[in-house]
Amino acid sequence: DLPGEVTIWEVGPRDGLQNEKSVVDLDVKLEFIDRLADAGLRTIEATSFVHPKWVPQLADAADLLAGLSKRDGVRYPVLVPNERGLDRALESGVTNIAIFASATETFAQKNLNRTLDSQFEMFDPVVSRARAAGLEVRGYVSMVFGDPWEGPVPVDQVVTVGRRLLDMGCSQLSLGDTIGVATPGQVEAIISAFGSPEALAVHFHDTYGQALANTLAALQCGVSTVDASAGGLGGCPYAESATGNLATEDLVWMLDGLGLSHGVDLNKLADTSAWMATRLGRPSPSRVVQALRG
Ligand code: HMG
Ligand code: MG
Repeated sequence: DLPGEVTIWEVGPRDGLQNEKSVVDLDVKLEFIDRLADAGLRTIEATSFVHPKWVPQLADAADLLAGLSKRDGVRYPVLVPNERGLDRALESGVTNIAIFASATETFAQKNLNRTLDSQFEMFDPVVSRARAAGLEVRGYVSMVFGDPWEGPVPVDQVVTVGRRLLDMGCSQLSLGDTIGVATPGQVEAIISAFGSPEALAVHFHDTYGQALANTLAALQCGVSTVDASAGGLGGCPYAESATGNLATEDLVWMLDGLGLSHGVDLNKLADTSAWMATRLGRPSPSRVVQALRG
């Protein structure tokens, strides 16, 4: 059964811009976020409080939060890897954070400079302190459907990592296909291995063109929160085979066709992505943006 309503978790300003070769101007980032809110998006992942040397594209996180004209009813979650990141996020007055774990040993090393096991020691105080401060905490799991160094990832391994994040106090778990290799049968298998779809969200990169098919499979399994990136921007600097996320426009087009409500104005959104594409100097990879604005 499909959910009647879908929550779109917009990750363009974070997942999209973290992977740009050049650093996007703060003014452009702020306008991007504001236009996304204007298009009806209610959850906009704004930036990351990670080490500025690791992701220089988002080193302006504090300035960005300070410059944001926050709107009522819009959440602006940020990525936080560790206690130093949490301190910075709290200083900036954030109310929603996301920690990000790896399902594999190699990516834990490459993305977090930790072992698979020791990543949890880093996250544990972040989640407990954030919850004590009244923040909502999401947990990402990366490399859920395959890892560029390790290949296929056992379902048990993913479920073990995911459950640890939920047990720690994450209210939602986003299952990340970091390198975009998943296919719909795998999506069903992972979601059913978790037992219940209520706390799950899905996060597909579109490297192999499967993101929309995978999303439909997840919706059919009862998942109702879908991550997407305006114009299909995105990727992970520590996983070179990753390309852009599922484009928010492509998702909205499908949801409209299915009659599922989401609250987004497709025209405003496509205008925003077309505007961003000129700022970035290359066309949006989104098929829907190309069809509407190409
Ligand atoms: P580390 O080098 O092990 O850090 O990096 P450390 O804990 O050893 O600390 C070293 C120094 O860095 C210390 O300074 C810290 O204070 C400082 P010193 O005492 O030497 O002067 N430091 C910080 N400074 C500012 N902000 C911080 C911070 N942390 C430490 N937060 C660390 C460990 C986790 C920090 C690093 O590996 C890192 O920043 N990684 C982030 C990588 C990243 O952002 N990747 C992309 C996001 S994940 C993704 O895209 C996947 C996702 O989209 C889902 C999917 O697609 O699957 C979410
Ligand atoms: Mg991602």
